[in-house]
Amino acid sequence: MPYQVFIETFGCQMNEYDTELVRSLLTKNGFVFTGDQSQADVVLMNTCAIRENAHNKVYGHLGECRVLKRERKVVVGVLGCMAQNLKKELMESDPVIDVLVGPDGYRQLPELLTRALEHQEKSLAVDLSEYETYEYILPDRGPGVNAWIAVMRGCDNFCSFCVVPYTRGRERSRTPEGILEEAQSLASRGYKQITLLGQNVNSYSSENWDFARLLTAVADIPGIERVRFTSPHPKDFPPSLLEAVAQHPRICRQIHLPLQAGNDRILDLMGRSYTRKDFLSLVEDIRRRGDIALSTDVICGFCSETDAEYLETYELLKALEFQAAYIFKYSERKHTIASRKYADDVPAQVKTERVARLIDLQKDISSKLNHRLIGQSVDVLIEGHAKKSRDQWMGHTESNVTVVWNKADSFTQPGNLVPVAVAEASASTLFGLRVASPLSLVCPD
Ligand code: 5AD
Ligand code: SF4
Repeated sequence: MPYQVFIETFGCQMNEYDTELVRSLLTKNGFVFTGDQSQADVVLMNTCAIRENAHNKVYGHLGECRVLKRERKVVVGVLGCMAQNLKKELMESDPVIDVLVGPDGYRQLPELLTRALEHQEKSLAVDLSEYETYEYILPDRGPGVNAWIAVMRGCDNFCSFCVVPYTRGRERSRTPEGILEEAQSLASRGYKQITLLGQNVNSYSSENWDFARLLTAVADIPGIERVRFTSPHPKDFPPSLLEAVAQHPRICRQIHLPLQAGNDRILDLMGRSYTRKDFLSLVEDIRRRGDIALSTDVICGFCSETDAEYLETYELLKALEFQAAYIFKYSERKHTIASRKYADDVPAQVKTERVARLIDLQKDISSKLNHRLIGQSVDVLIEGHAKKSRDQWMGHTESNVTVVWNKADSFTQPGNLVPVAVAEASASTLFGLRVASPLSLVCPD
């Protein structure tokens, strides 16, 4: 009987992608996957380390594994960023863990799991590699509308708050041939939207290929309706990339542009390599090219951030009117520059208040922008049923806003790009009526 594996993924899209790589590597080596943890011989967690609450989720899950292990023999593996960040310390702190593998060690996973299953051997693989890109390992994913492709891995920016350079190592880009082959295979399997992924996706570079050229080449593949990318760094936006986003009919006119803070002293302490003014002029540059939706990330309560400095971030968010903003409380991470050089001295209560005020502000902005669309028609890629009802479809606009509407006919299906008339709006969702016929129909076979 093949060994059955249950895997749970925490964190970002890159982790979702890595889980698909792990599935592919294990399946090739005779393992099978189950969605039922109670049937599994192996329980894996692909973990995130970006903030403290990401760690806490995994500790909670390890508690469940302890109970499971008391009932029967099961091998427990911790994969990904938290494994890489805490290494031996994590393994030693919790005897429930049998195998610990960082983001560059997945090729060793079949062997390490077999040793744990057959010889009760504990082991870890946490060496970072300068070269591992998992080239030509086709991720194992079920059918769907959306797919991801990691085009580069690692990050060389060392923003002072961020653990990623320590958990995912140095930047390395895949070959354009490997990426385009993967994208073509996705198109031929009926995927309609591809998101190019990288910790620093726009610093992609391979011989004479830069990110703009790669993005355009993926969007040129017949069958792909929409291409997005995440997450870019504001320092790498040459005009060619902005032109590609503004001009190519299948590159979504939407950019996630992490700001992090709106005050120059804090940006400098964060090591972000741009000023408030640089950021503003990049946004102006983007908006000069037309209607391109922007979203952002902001950290509140970074080391020594004063009320006045926080207010500069608040005012900037208010002025720039992003379509969406992801607001985080600063969370000190082991190994980072900030953890070594600066005190995490903004009180927890102050961080919470700053986050809450920014979330309120952003809700008002998103709601205002969404309300402007009432009465208009938006093109939506249908992704599946709405969470709340199988009688409704759910999809996203090009600007990445969620749209929900009642199903009206029996031929429309996921993967169709359809116009939807917006009837109502909230801060997070547009509610629509379907109009006209589909812009494109996908052959069900
Ligand atoms: N604390 C809080 N937020 C963080 N991020 C990254 N590191 C931290 C941290 N230590 C946020 C940044 C980044 C997003 C993915 O997570 O805003 O853009
Ligand atoms: Fe972290 Fe900065 Fe790299 Fe983004 S660019 S992954 S925030 S170090």
